[in-house]
Amino acid sequence: MKKIISLITCAMLALSLAACGGATESVTTQTSATQETKETTKETEATVTEETNASSEDTTAEQSTESGKDVLVVYFSATGTTKDVAEKIAKITNGDLYEIVPEQPYTSDDLNWNDKNSRTTKEQNDSKARPGIASGDVSFDGYKTIYIGYPIWWGEAPRIMDTFVEKYNFDGKTVIPFCTSSSSGIGRSGKILAENAGSGNWLDGKRFGAGPSEDDLRSWISGIQ
Ligand SMILES: Cc1cc2nc3c(=O)[nH]c(=O)nc-3n(C[C@H](O)[C@H](O)[C@H](O)COP(=O)(O)O)c2cc1C
Repeated sequence: MKKIISLITCAMLALSLAACGGATESVTTQTSATQETKETTKETEATVTEETNASSEDTTAEQSTESGKDVLVVYFSATGTTKDVAEKIAKITNGDLYEIVPEQPYTSDDLNWNDKNSRTTKEQNDSKARPGIASGDVSFDGYKTIYIGYPIWWGEAPRIMDTFVEKYNFDGKTVIPFCTSSSSGIGRSGKILAENAGSGNWLDGKRFGAGPSEDDLRSWISGIQ
């Protein structure tokens, strides 16, 4: 009887050990499956991160301006005519605007072209005059095209435009001058600015009267090569 009981006990022990072994194996299997899953997840995460990094690098290369825009419209305007044109160009081209603000604002006396001693007459008679600019520095980084606008004063660009173009490096930029006037054409004003800038691919500019329509501006812009 004792023998039978010990035989049964041994058989039960053997069975329960075998069952434990199976359970351990299955836990191990689950663990390694989990590890595999984690590793796969890690790989996936790494790939996504890399792709995300790569795509953000691509994005940076495509849009390196803070605003993500390709076009910058720079302008100086003493009485608002050129400002209006600049704003319309920026709207049409989805560009950013930068206003050249003089350190010393031009008063109506300063703008009196009938006065030989007015500030503007003196400045335009002095090709070396370089009026100061109060507006903060602008970065050209990321812009492909820069429109640059001004009123015609005595057949030329105001001297403050020379202050501006001599301060910046236009390398790699397409620069498109535009101006407003009562009747004079753009003349050599864009070419002189290009010479004084000494860098950039300056295209022929265009003169406008007061308040050109957006359609007129659009057809000029779409025809620019
Ligand atoms: C000092 C001065 C000189 C000017 N000289 C000319 C000129 O030579 N030819 C012309 O057609 N208009 C001339 N104008 C008119 C301006 O070019 C015109 O009003 C321009 O659209 C003003 O632009 P703004 O309002 O952006 O300053 C002159 C204006 C000023 C104040």
